[in-house]
Amino acid sequence: MRQPYLISLDLTDQPVLVIGGGRIATRKVEGLLDSGARITVIAPELSPRLRELAALGRVELIPRAFDILDLSRPALLTFAATNDHDLNWAIVQQLRRDGRLVNGADAESGRNFSTPATARTENATLAVATDEGDPVRAKGLLARAIELRTSRGGDSPLRGQSPLVTLVGAGPGNPDLLTVGGKREIELADVIVHDNLVHPDILKLARPGAELIAVGKHPFGEQVAQETINSILVREGSLGKRVVRLKGGDPFIFGRGTEEIEALHAAGVKWRVVPGVSSINGVSGAAGVTLTKRGRNHGFAVFSAATTPAEEIRRWARIEGPLAIFMGVHKAAIIAREFIAGGRDGNEPVVVVARGGTDTERVAETTLAELPKLLAQPEEWTPGLIIVGATREAAFRATATSKTDAAPIPGTHVFTRNHS
Ligand SMILES: C[S@@+](CC[C@H](N)C(=O)[O-])C[C@H]1O[C@@H](n2cnc3c(N)ncnc32)[C@H](O)[C@@H]1O
Repeated sequence: MRQPYLISLDLTDQPVLVIGGGRIATRKVEGLLDSGARITVIAPELSPRLRELAALGRVELIPRAFDILDLSRPALLTFAATNDHDLNWAIVQQLRRDGRLVNGADAESGRNFSTPATARTENATLAVATDEGDPVRAKGLLARAIELRTSRGGDSPLRGQSPLVTLVGAGPGNPDLLTVGGKREIELADVIVHDNLVHPDILKLARPGAELIAVGKHPFGEQVAQETINSILVREGSLGKRVVRLKGGDPFIFGRGTEEIEALHAAGVKWRVVPGVSSINGVSGAAGVTLTKRGRNHGFAVFSAATTPAEEIRRWARIEGPLAIFMGVHKAAIIAREFIAGGRDGNEPVVVVARGGTDTERVAETTLAELPKLLAQPEEWTPGLIIVGATREAAFRATATSKTDAAPIPGTHVFTRNHS
């Protein structure tokens, strides 16, 4: 088998064409971001990340299907990364005939160049390419080479950068709730794997050239499987990059942080945690609900309605004191039904805080019986925290919010925050 011939390209201001707008195309674009290339993407449908990069002016988008005439555009490199295998193959054949550099999305589509596995050290890139062009084996070899070098006391890309993957709680909604430790980790990161609940201002703290990987899970939209997130963390951590896993609120409060550290531990990748302010305190208090008061209540409870069966929701109803419910907006009817069946009064006060801490925050005061009506359009109240058995403090209500005429439902009032 012939050995690959590795070269190092200066792509500053050079045109690079990516045909396709899905997962693989997005990965190719992410890999090019630090190179200074002028990236053009042609695809009728584009991933949210590609749209975000276009909005930031990092890539040019041509939002339509590929046309054969596109191959006459100047391009030092072309990536054929559509989800149509035959089309990728045809593009590769054509460009190979023309003596141009082209990479098909999968080995069967063909290619005359491939991208090696890389790790960055100070002003240098370490690269590994295998003879058969197997990216998984290349990444494994690179991780082993880095480990070997480090254990022999060599100049490692990881020098001064232990541990490898840091789970950082970004706080809920308001970017001011990020901790000092979290900010420092974000500023130093090579790669940031982030949720969609993370405020965009927090992502702006990333250093230029840091790779941002969006893995947001949205109750009504695109899903990235937890296993995929785990393997991204393991992969990036194994490559010796300084990785931040940035999660809304606190990583271990309904954040699936436990599964991520288990995956990292099992793969032998070092990790640590910078806790964050959870919405349980960061959202409720800022919206005027105080969860404890001397002489009023001795405690409060928190549960998630995401996958909780109705019988269990009914058992939660028996708990005394305020009950804060995460991921319950789309389950309002079940919560009201089970709570009332579980013995709570339909007139019991309930506060809902949607998008707490953001410019579009909305706070509603209602009753358990009216909750399903209030949340009949769940997407308008997401993400939202439901607090049963609580009211907003009068002192807060008087100063910080304005009443709106939304939701003409008996006993229900909706407020927005005064921005002053
Ligand atoms: C997957 S959980 C993540 C919780 C997060 N780890 C925390 O500690 O806040 C998402 C849920 O948190 C709540 N949440 C997160 N951010 C919120 C915000 N800004 N306003 C209201 N609720 C929020 C909602 O109940 C949402 O459905």
